Amino acid sequence: MNGNGHIPVLLEEALQYLQIKREGTYVDCTLGLGGHTLEILKRNPKAILIGFDIDEKSLLKAKEKLEPYADRVSLYHSDFRYLPDLKIDFSKIRGILLDLGMSSFQLDSPERGFSYSREGPLDMRMDLRNKTTAHKIINKLPEHRLSQIFHEYGELRQARRLAREIVTRRKTQKIETTTQLCRTVEEICSWRPQKGKIHPAAKVFQAIRIEVNQELKSLSGFIERISQKLPKKAHIAAISFHSLEDRIIKQTFIQLATSMNSHPCLKIQTKKPVVPSEEEIAINFRARSAKLRAAEII
Ligand SMILES: C[S@@+](CC[C@H](N)C(=O)[O-])C[C@H]1O[C@@H](n2cnc3c(N)ncnc32)[C@H](O)[C@@H]1O
Repeated sequence: MNGNGHIPVLLEEALQYLQIKREGTYVDCTLGLGGHTLEILKRNPKAILIGFDIDEKSLLKAKEKLEPYADRVSLYHSDFRYLPDLKIDFSKIRGILLDLGMSSFQLDSPERGFSYSREGPLDMRMDLRNKTTAHKIINKLPEHRLSQIFHEYGELRQARRLAREIVTRRKTQKIETTTQLCRTVEEICSWRPQKGKIHPAAKVFQAIRIEVNQELKSLSGFIERISQKLPKKAHIAAISFHSLEDRIIKQTFIQLATSMNSHPCLKIQTKKPVVPSEEEIAINFRARSAKLRAAEII
């Protein structure tokens, strides 16, 4: 575990697919607290690291942690989707890692508003420069849009009813906090804890978080663009935590591996996604939904 409680997920598997022993540059698109990056730097003294994160607080924490290796690290407070636009020598890149979603550091910081079980403001922004907050989405968006978000990003069966009720309730009282939203969802969905059932607020929070941070936007486009820029034998390893993201990665890989119009530009290395072992889940319960897919540029 690292200093702030984030344990890097599928660490050994991701590093294996990235073939981190090779000399050259590795890009950690979602640096978080630098868990994966730190291991690459430790295990390969000839590795150069480029790290991206849209969350400045995470980036600062990672910077501290990576201090002993500062001469081999460049960090960017930026969306990784800008990587293809960087003025760098792409021919030196050996691997890029995407470990999508949020870190335990973010989830466990109540003031960020990511967790339905911790009292905090309805924020959920990974990038504090973003003008859209969860509060705005819950209290301002029209009913049909809310319903669409709950349906598409939360895969909630009661999406329409939930949206309708939230819109009715907010006319008399705005929903201000994570706890208020959680209670509202529990009431509307007549929630009673049952073993093995996911709390409906978990899905609602996931849906809002995806919308606030536009998490699915241009993920496919990014993989396509970066695949065109990477040199042969570079590897892409992508870890996702929900089926929507996993589907996008899987389909984009398939499309790039079998492209009819132009030459296929990558080879898929994971026929099925790699998932955490029981041992990993026992140590880190948050790893349970992780899926890793990897590909090699050809
Ligand atoms: C699961 S965490 C990564 C954890 C990291 N691998 C570690 O072991 O410490 C995901 C990180 O990606 C960042 N992130 C999410 N979307 C991003 C984006 N589009 N561009 C850059 N960073 C992003 C989040 O702020 C978060 O810190």
